[in-house]
Parts: sequence; C-alpha cells; structure tokens
Amino acid sequence: MKREIPTKLRKEVYNISTAWLEGLLQASDNAPPMKPMHSVITNRAGKKHTVLIRPIEEKEIDPVLEFLKLTLDAEYDYYDIVGARVFGELLAIKRKRMKDEYFFLGLHNGKLVGIANGRLMDDEVNISLHTITFERQINAGGVLFYSKCWYCFEVCQQEEFWATFESYNGWMLAGLRMALPSYPWPDMQHELGGAKIFYLTRELWESSIKEEYLQQVARTSFKPASKELIKKNEKLIIPKELEI
Ligand SMILES: CC(C)(COP(=O)(O)OP(=O)(O)OC[C@H]1O[C@@H](n2cnc3c(N)ncnc32)[C@H](O)[C@@H]1OP(=O)(O)O)[C@@H](O)C(=O)NCCC(=O)NCCS
Repeated sequence: MKREIPTKLRKEVYNISTAWLEGLLQASDNAPPMKPMHSVITNRAGKKHTVLIRPIEEKEIDPVLEFLKLTLDAEYDYYDIVGARVFGELLAIKRKRMKDEYFFLGLHNGKLVGIANGRLMDDEVNISLHTITFERQINAGGVLFYSKCWYCFEVCQQEEFWATFESYNGWMLAGLRMALPSYPWPDMQHELGGAKIFYLTRELWESSIKEEYLQQVARTSFKPASKELIKKNEKLIIPKELEI
C-alpha cells in the first residue's frame, strides 16, 4: 500500500539489494544432524533387506526431485498428493523456504526405497510431514516413520511429534499401530491441509513405542550404521520407474 509521506526526505527512492530481502525471507536451517542408522527388514518372500536411513546430501537433491516428478501422475494409493508435497518440501530445502526441515532417505544397497521428512516447529514440537516408499510391502514404511520419531525424541530432545495422515496405509502404519491420540479438531489443525493432529508424546515414546513398535510392525530394531554399510550405500541409485 502506498501512503502519503508525513515528512520531508533527503531521498524518495531506495534501491535494495535482493540479498537483504533474502535475509528477511529465508527460513532457518538449524535441524540437528542425524547419524546414519539402519534396520534389517524381511520381505514377504523371507528375503532380508538392510535399510540405511540417512539425511539427503545436497548433490542428491536434483536427482531425487527428478524422480519424484514420476509420482505426480500416480493416481494410486495417494502417491500423487504425497509425492507432490514431498517434491515441494525438497525444493524448499534447495530454495531455503522451509524452517528447520529434515529429509531422510531409506536406501538398500544404494537404491532409494523410501523417504521420510519433517521439520522442527520449535524446541518442543516436531512436525512429521511425509513418509513414502518406492518398494512396497517390505516394511520400509514402518522403519522410515519410526526414524522420524527417534529423531524427534532421541536426537532433537523434543517433547511431542505431530503427525497427520493422507492415506489409509499411512494411518494403518502409524496412527493405528502406534495408537496415537488426536487433538480436538478443528480447534487444532496440522499444517498439512488443516487435518487432524495425531500426536506422540515423550511419555508414550518412552513407555512403549521406542522398544516395541518396530519389533511388532517389522520384527526389527533401529541401530547406528557401520562404516561399511554407509560406504555400501554411498552411491545413490534412483529407480528408473515408479514401481508401486
Ligand atoms: C504409507 C506407506 C509409507 C506404508 O508403507 P509400508 O508400511 O512399507 O507398506 P505398504 O503400503 O507397501 O504395504 C503394507 C502392507 O504390506 C504388509 N507388509 C509389509 N511388509 C511385510 C512383510 N515383510 N511381510 C508381510 N507383509 C508385509 C503390511 O502388513 C501391509 O499389509 P496390509 O495392507 O494387508 O495391512 C506406503 O504405502 C506409501 O508410500 N504410500 C504412498 C504415500 C503415503 O500414503 N504416505 C503416507 C501418507 S500418510
């Protein structure tokens, strides 16, 4: 809005470098680092997959963005909306437009099997954004979702983890199997589409989820990854097609 100037001025036009504007608009990037972790999961055929979970590296952002474009046309199991949102959230890291985001890749021998991401709202609350798998029915979803809870309570030392669910598979995976309560709605709304907030408290995490959830859902544990495993997954392999 233009307004009349209420005083005399030395100059009437100021030139502003966009670097000043960037300082104003850029989101903070202070999410604590997450050490590479791993879980051993078993698929329906009984074959074992050792899944490494680690933060995405800068050089991997463009290839993963390119791959995520494939989800935009996937009108199946809500892959399109979840994929589109994950695409936007990854682009937000590149363009520095989301506060304190974390973005984890799930890898099996370097192959991308899934993604889990979220952000830190403040010292107390961690916002779960998405979990998406590119290899179905191997339990990668459970491990990836768990990695975000672990990151919230064990690394960031926060008190609550706020999730919401766009798909029935997502709700089955965590809403139901973690027995998550929800906050009154519409009084409180999750930032993803204003839907219900399903929350995990530190108390519930410590009393049962931390030890029991992964065992019950995927018969596995969540442990630091060895140097060998990190090396084995160093080169990111992006699937050529979306096989969901
Ligand atoms: C939601 C999502 C992450 C869940 O991933 P997931 O738990 O690895 O599971 P999938 O959907 O591939 O498969 C789930 C089924 O496989 C079964 N399953 C998984 N691993 C198994 C194994 N090793 N042995 C036997 N069954 C297994 C599960 O029990 C479940 O069976 P059910 O549907 O009969 O209950 C995944 O479906 C996905 O990426 N969906 C699209 C995006 C999305 O919806 N994200 C969540 C938004 S809220």
